[in-house]
Amino acid sequence: ADQRRESLYVISARAGKFFQDVMWNTEEGKTIGLGYFRERGFRDDVLKKFELGYSPDSWDAFIETALKEGYKENFIEEAGLAIRNDKGRLYDRFRARVLFPIHSFTGRIIGFGGRTLKTDKKVPKYVNSPESEIYHKSDVLYGLYFAKKAIRDADNCYLVEGYADVLSVHQAGIENVVASSGTSLTSAQVRLIGRFTKNITILYDGDAAGIKASLRGLDMILEEGLNVRVVLFPDGHDPDSYVHSLGSAAFKSHIEKNQKDFILFKTSVLLKDAGNDPIKRAGVIREVVESIAKIPDSIKASVFVRECSSLMQIDERSLITELNKLRQGKL
Ligand code: CTP
Ligand code: MN
Ligand code: MN
Ligand code: MN
Ligand code: MN
Repeated sequence: ADQRRESLYVISARAGKFFQDVMWNTEEGKTIGLGYFRERGFRDDVLKKFELGYSPDSWDAFIETALKEGYKENFIEEAGLAIRNDKGRLYDRFRARVLFPIHSFTGRIIGFGGRTLKTDKKVPKYVNSPESEIYHKSDVLYGLYFAKKAIRDADNCYLVEGYADVLSVHQAGIENVVASSGTSLTSAQVRLIGRFTKNITILYDGDAAGIKASLRGLDMILEEGLNVRVVLFPDGHDPDSYVHSLGSAAFKSHIEKNQKDFILFKTSVLLKDAGNDPIKRAGVIREVVESIAKIPDSIKASVFVRECSSLMQIDERSLITELNKLRQGKL
């Protein structure tokens, strides 16, 4: 089994090198792949560091190269690099896409995210490697290998949604950044960050989906006993687009100034819909207490109860009563 896993690592590394070679050394790769990344404002040194590449517009360019070098069909397929059609023929999974290799936190390539260059809405924007013996999507954070030292040094981890967000934030000089890659944040991912820091700042997209994912994510983080802050971006922006619209310095000061602890974030988001309706406001308070109830450390929880009490101007004792009810429900 270890031998099999090792074979998957080796073929994935080979594919990473192939996609890089195509991007930097072929006409198609330079014009289309490299051209696309440069157009988006990514610097060459960042493209090289993250080992980005391009898969040509061909049904089997990678498969052909790999087979010629003696790699076995079944490993190419199991590594998710090729798909078998109804007729049993193998074809390249990532053809005509720019590629973001996904690294394990020890730096080995375990999968890929491939972005289309088409603007056609019918084409899926991203195609990702399927689960394999070396790639478990829910256990992985994109960019962790390149971020872990900075996360330790800063004692904080920025969490974004997407591949491009990691690159742009990193390029802006904020290297303690990882992506959950579109899936809802898992406890395994939070624990992985917890090996390097207890502090997470969520920087999800500034749309309804991003806000919803932030609310879910912060509960997950609290449940794992870590501290969480959230930055909200203007609607329609994500960290990548916002870095490019503001520039690095203004982006940094935006996230410094607009970090909110989870109480402030949750109340400001939920109160928008509640207005002055007292019943709705009570609902907001209850939802905030639900988040506080997820904090395992009761001393920390009581600090947030006090903050909630003064912010919502509500008696601390009634919050504690609610909290205890929720806690008992959990036991
Ligand atoms: N994602 C995915 N499959 C999709 C759409 C999204 O796997 N069809 C994941 C990718 O990891 C993507 C992340 O979810 O990076 C965030 O999605 P989205 O905000 O839609 O994409 P961006 O990362 O902003 O992509 P880009 O800036 O390249 O348009
Ligand atoms: Mn496994
Ligand atoms: Mn999005
Ligand atoms: Mn986005
Ligand atoms: Mn984006």
